Amino acid sequence: MQKKTFYITTPIYYPSGNPHIGHCYSTVTCDTIARYKRWQGYDVMFSTGTDEHGMKIEQNAAKAGKTPQLYVDEIADIFKKLWAYMDISYDRFIRTTDDYHKSAVQNIFKKIYDKGYIYKGEYSGKYCVPDESFWTESQLKDGKCPECGRDVIDAKEEAYFMKMQPFAERIEKLLTETDFLKPAARVNEMVNNFIKPGLDDLCVSRTTFKWGVPVPFDEEHVVYVWLDALTNYITLLGYENGEHDDMKYWAADVHVTAKDIVRFHSIIWIAILLALDLPLPKRLYSHNFIKLGGAKMGKSTGNVIDPFVLGERYGVDALRYQMLRDMPFNDDMDFSNELMLSRINTDLANDLGNLVSRTVAMVEKYFGSQLPSEKTQNDAQDSDLISLASALKEKIDTLIEEPQLGASLAEIFKVISRANKYIDETEPWVLAKDDANKPRLAQVLYNLLEAVRICSSLLAAFMPSSMQKVFEQIGASADCISYENAGKWGVLPQDVTVKRGEIIFPRFDVAKEMEALSSLN
Ligand code: ME8
Repeated sequence: MQKKTFYITTPIYYPSGNPHIGHCYSTVTCDTIARYKRWQGYDVMFSTGTDEHGMKIEQNAAKAGKTPQLYVDEIADIFKKLWAYMDISYDRFIRTTDDYHKSAVQNIFKKIYDKGYIYKGEYSGKYCVPDESFWTESQLKDGKCPECGRDVIDAKEEAYFMKMQPFAERIEKLLTETDFLKPAARVNEMVNNFIKPGLDDLCVSRTTFKWGVPVPFDEEHVVYVWLDALTNYITLLGYENGEHDDMKYWAADVHVTAKDIVRFHSIIWIAILLALDLPLPKRLYSHNFIKLGGAKMGKSTGNVIDPFVLGERYGVDALRYQMLRDMPFNDDMDFSNELMLSRINTDLANDLGNLVSRTVAMVEKYFGSQLPSEKTQNDAQDSDLISLASALKEKIDTLIEEPQLGASLAEIFKVISRANKYIDETEPWVLAKDDANKPRLAQVLYNLLEAVRICSSLLAAFMPSSMQKVFEQIGASADCISYENAGKWGVLPQDVTVKRGEIIFPRFDVAKEMEALSSLN
């Protein structure tokens, strides 16, 4: 039987500066969902990439004394290195300077033009150069760009426009009658601020810069970035080009972005798809921002936000965990090195790391690493842990759909805490004093290993490489950590053999680390 497909996308990032932990958050979110879905048995397409055209790139390249192509080549490489470093399992990396994408964008432009939705006109307005956005007077905030707060300039140019009004009703329906946009709190903002006042036509070409895809029938113009950028989600599957043949993955199951570009994804992208008569994506998860000291990510805030540096000191999985765990679904996360360190110490070193190392050490100490088959039956003392752990997979399945990754981790760590409490309740070291208690001791340790198996297999999508180490230590074969077995109790062999290994999550001295990190700034 053919597997069901699942298509998830990150935004394609501007290679106008080095990636930071904000970019990591979206990409790690997608990676976690993609891994979980593969584990569930889906045929997954997970895409990411870089959005390389536009005036800002052209200007940055000029400042750096490089051609735009060389400039974007170098930064696209840094993104690729970072994703390899962060264990990102993307299937396809698209660059908008890829030839197949450029020719597809030209075909798409022509197609929408031929359908009568694109026309030539004149644009005059307030233009924010860094954001490459035109704004109307009324959209400005205190005379500045409403998105980034910087100065705008008066600008006028001949341009092509795409009509938006023919699609307004269907866009509004998608937003208000389905659960396409998450968190749902964003729906009103989109409807009241943009749709209700009447959608402005979208400017889809520029003549003021050259670094872009030429409009096929009017080469003075280059395609304006959003039409070029958003269409990456279909051109990378092969739409209007011969490079790939993967349109079976369309429509996207989840687009992930932060809230800064929710308007482009929930209104403009939908209009483009409607103009092309293509099916609409099923979910847009528009998450909140990682902030530093209350402000959106910047450079000079005294915290180390370079993911390479943080990953090197604390481990990639610890970084992945902290970001996913602490980002609230409905609010921004204020990142600080201190918050990160205390999260790593509390959850990973104390709760999970200790549970694994204590359990494995006890099996080694009391039974020479291999549990005996002879055990007692489970009794009332065991039932709470067993029922909590057995019910966990179903909870995580539901939360992943939302997608609520922080809440998923909180649920898994409730079971980890419960297992730690179970050690205190059952007191294996007391049982070990009397040989007559060996069958009960074996049962208790088996239950602990089972709780670890379930939790770590559910955590594998979040922290892939560390969970491999846990599987090895508890003696779990590939079959034991399958998706099906994550909802079952009693899967490890009764005579399982454990293998003590390195400390998976070391504890850090927060004060010392804070000092070391501050000297890096
Ligand atoms: O907007 N917190 O690219 P971009 C959380 N090229 N996420 C953050 C973040 C933060 N502080 N900073 C950045 C673009 N992000 C366009 C997208 S898509 C067709 C074109 C993440 O490099 C988040 O996903 O400015 C945000 O939406 C994206 O990076 C913006 O990346």
